[in-house]
Amino acid sequence: MKFFVDTADTAEIKSLAASGLLDGVTTNPSLMAKTGKKFQDVLADICATVPGPVSAEVASTEFDGMLAEARVLRGIAKNIAVKVPLTPDGLRACRRLSEEGAMVNVTLCFSPAQAILAAKAGATFVSPFIGRLDDVGEDGMQLIRDIVTIFGNYDYFKTQVLVASVRNPMHVVEAAKAGGHICTVPPAVLRQLFNHPLTDKGLAAFLADWSKTGQRIA
Ligand code: E4P
Repeated sequence: MKFFVDTADTAEIKSLAASGLLDGVTTNPSLMAKTGKKFQDVLADICATVPGPVSAEVASTEFDGMLAEARVLRGIAKNIAVKVPLTPDGLRACRRLSEEGAMVNVTLCFSPAQAILAAKAGATFVSPFIGRLDDVGEDGMQLIRDIVTIFGNYDYFKTQVLVASVRNPMHVVEAAKAGGHICTVPPAVLRQLFNHPLTDKGLAAFLADWSKTGQRIA
C-alpha cells in the first residue's frame, strides 16, 4: 500500500518526507485555505519536497473553467495530479485531462456507482471518503471493499483506489486488508501508525540492560 499525506502544511510534509515513507500528497481547497499562503507557492514547495503525485484541486465547477485551472495547476510542477469533483463536468474534464496525459484524481466519491464512472472517465485515482460516510452512519470501509472488487473484475480499469477521509490507524489497516491501493492520511494519524506501548516498554528495557554493560557500539 502506498501512503500519501493529506495536508497542505509544508512543515509537516517536510518532516514526514524525512521518514522515507511518503509516496505522495493530497490537498483540497479547505486544507489550502488553512495555510493562509498563495496556492502556487504552497504547491511548488510541496512538489519540490515529495517527488510522487501531489493532488491539487480545481475550484471551478464547470468544464471549461476546470480545464483552464488544470493548466495553471499543471504548470506548477510535473508531479501535480489535478483533482476534480465527481460531477458530470468533473468527469468530462477528467476524460479530457487524462487524454492529454495528466494525472487526475476524482474526489468526493461516496458510492460504487460513482467510482465506476470515475474509472470509465480514465481517472488515475478515485478518492472514496470513508470517514465522512462513517460520520453519517454508513460503512465507509464497505465502499472500499466494493470498489476494489468491482475494479478487479475488469482488467481495463486502471484507476487506483485512493482511500481518503481517513480518521484513525484502523482505517489504514482495514483499507490495506481490503486492497485499497493508496491511503491518504492526515499527519497526526500517520504518526500514530508508529505507536505501540509494547515497543516503548521493550525499548526501555533493552536500553536499561545495555547501559549496565558500560559498553558503546560507536
Ligand atoms: C482527500 O483527498 C481529502 O483531502 C480528505 O481525505 C478529506 O478528508 P476529511 O473528510 O477529513 O476532510
